[in-house]
Amino acid sequence: MKFFIDTANLEQIKEAQDLGILDGVTTNPSLMAKEGISGKEAVLNHYKTICEIVDGDISAEVLSTTYEEMIKEGDELAAIHPNIVVKIPMIKDGIKALKYFSMKGIKTNCTLIFSAGQALLAAKAGANYVSPFLGRLDDISVDGMNLIEEIRIIFDNYMFDTEILAASIRSPMHIINCAKIGADAITSPLDSILNLLNHPLTDKGLAQFVADAKKMS
Ligand code: E4P
Repeated sequence: MKFFIDTANLEQIKEAQDLGILDGVTTNPSLMAKEGISGKEAVLNHYKTICEIVDGDISAEVLSTTYEEMIKEGDELAAIHPNIVVKIPMIKDGIKALKYFSMKGIKTNCTLIFSAGQALLAAKAGANYVSPFLGRLDDISVDGMNLIEEIRIIFDNYMFDTEILAASIRSPMHIINCAKIGADAITSPLDSILNLLNHPLTDKGLAQFVADAKKMS
């Protein structure tokens, strides 16, 4: 299972990278804006810096919503580094753009997936990743994990190469449940990844070992 960090914050990306378990990074326009990145030059430079920190798939989202603009923008993003994955929204023109990039051998991530039908269309268009948004479904009282299960069944039925990249992760349990279902990847804030470390019995056991180690020296 691949672990991506879902942020444009360079400190958090470095911290996750230092753990040695990171497979890539995902961003979106909201995460970029949160870091105060604005203007084309700054955006391209920021992605270049992320690519220098992490040797893995780096999802960079297009800002436009028409086919012509998305392919122009995606081509520019892909030219930054071979690890760039062009992130395309799940809209009609997005499907055409996914096909365009697939034919060109440029990797893609189809974002804002909220139904199995959307995931199927993206896979048919040759997306490398689909990003179902678990947390945002849970937020409206729809079980996001059901969607991951449905997509897993469909992709397995037809042996699609498209990887399920579970997104909008809100907790360590989201990550564990995605692993149980067989999502290919998760993208998560750093907190939820680090929370996987925690167990009170580990803390208690370690405190005892440290105390007993002192008796030995
Ligand atoms: C995925 O690629 C998105 O960037 C992200 O996971 C959305 O998460 P949010 O619902 O917490 O904004």
